Amino acid sequence: MRTILVTGGAGFIGSNFIRFLMKRSPYYQVVNLDKLTYAGNPANLKQVENWKHYHFIQGDICCRELVEDIFQEFSVDCLVNFAAETHVDRSIITPEVFIQTNVLGTVNLLNTAKRHWEKTPQSISDKKFIQISTDEVYGSLGKEGYFTETTPLDPHSPYAASKAAADLLAKSYFDTYGLPVNITRCSNNYGPYQFPEKLIPLVITNALHKRDIPVYGDGLNVRDWLYVEDHCAAIALVMQKGKAGEIYNIGGHQEKTNLQLIKTILTYLHDNVDSSITENLIKYVEDRKGHDRRYGIDPTKIHAELGWSAKILLDTGIEKTIRWYLDHEEWTRDLIAQGSPQLDLESHGSGDGL
Ligand code: NAD
Ligand code: DAU
Repeated sequence: MRTILVTGGAGFIGSNFIRFLMKRSPYYQVVNLDKLTYAGNPANLKQVENWKHYHFIQGDICCRELVEDIFQEFSVDCLVNFAAETHVDRSIITPEVFIQTNVLGTVNLLNTAKRHWEKTPQSISDKKFIQISTDEVYGSLGKEGYFTETTPLDPHSPYAASKAAADLLAKSYFDTYGLPVNITRCSNNYGPYQFPEKLIPLVITNALHKRDIPVYGDGLNVRDWLYVEDHCAAIALVMQKGKAGEIYNIGGHQEKTNLQLIKTILTYLHDNVDSSITENLIKYVEDRKGHDRRYGIDPTKIHAELGWSAKILLDTGIEKTIRWYLDHEEWTRDLIAQGSPQLDLESHGSGDGL
């Protein structure tokens, strides 16, 4: 049985990944280390909490002693680092916490993995450190072209810069020490359990509450959307078959402008849930500072080398996601009842929140 240390597993993608592992393989033991920041939610893991091969540890990836203890107690074969501060708007307000977790926390994980895995050099090739990164490290595209793994890094927001720094450090641990690192760079994810500060769940929950939907700038920025389970499947393949030291871009060529996406969601809600939900809810607000215009991933490498491709088309995925939020209204209601700090996000032109 392989032991997978998942960090940040109480967040959106991490919790989907743990569920993904539980459903597909009885051969993994999963240790989830999560600080439970505003974005980490134990309710995301209800389905796995009784799984006998699952252990939850509340704590900070920056804490040297704690991460050391985890490596001592569990013989970690693979570390998948999801733990991060992830919201671009927050990084514009408080960059420091992004540097702390995304950069220094990652270095602490790299150091601990190196220390432990070097003790048995003969089995280091069975180990794996997967740094979950993002397409935002590449910066912004014009109307044409896609990000490949060799596109130069050109991050714009403090969030993206902190992720780029972590990527370079992870790469340096492969180049210098031979630590078996993979870096994955995925496009925008959506699906169940995404915190409603991010565009898709924000549009769904605001519309259901008949609140304004803040559109930054002209609404014509383009994002390349991937259903979260497709991302999880790609990470699992990298875990099993990824070649040490390699970077893999993950995306499914599903680009939309923000306005196109928002209108799709509003139309679905209007037609299927409440005919008083209309495009009148759209409210143009001040643009995000340094707002990247377009992201678009070229997934050729992961398709050719690992056989991965996206399975869920955007229309299907959006409908599944809306249905999930409709069927789990208590999940969003509990976040609001807990006084989620999302409600405080107001100084950057996007302040309407929920
Ligand atoms: P999220 O904000 O939903 O979850 C982040 C999790 O990390 C939370 O559970 C939080 O409690 C935990 N965490 C934060 N700081 C921590 C610390 N110091 N120690 C331990 N745990 C800590 O994030 P997400 O959207 O699930 O993203 C997960 C990863 O995937 C991130 O690294 C992000 O950069 C990357 N990514 C996200 C997307 C996307 O569209 N959401 C796309 C590509 C890559
Ligand atoms: O590309 C991957 C990245 O996708 C991840 O690395 C990040 O962690 C994740 O947050 C996401 O970043 P974005 O900035 O692209 O996602 P967000 O949902 O914040 O915004 C998507 C687009 O919608 C972006 O162009 C900004 C716009 N937007 C967003 C919000 C929250 C609005 O117009 N109004 C809003 O209220």
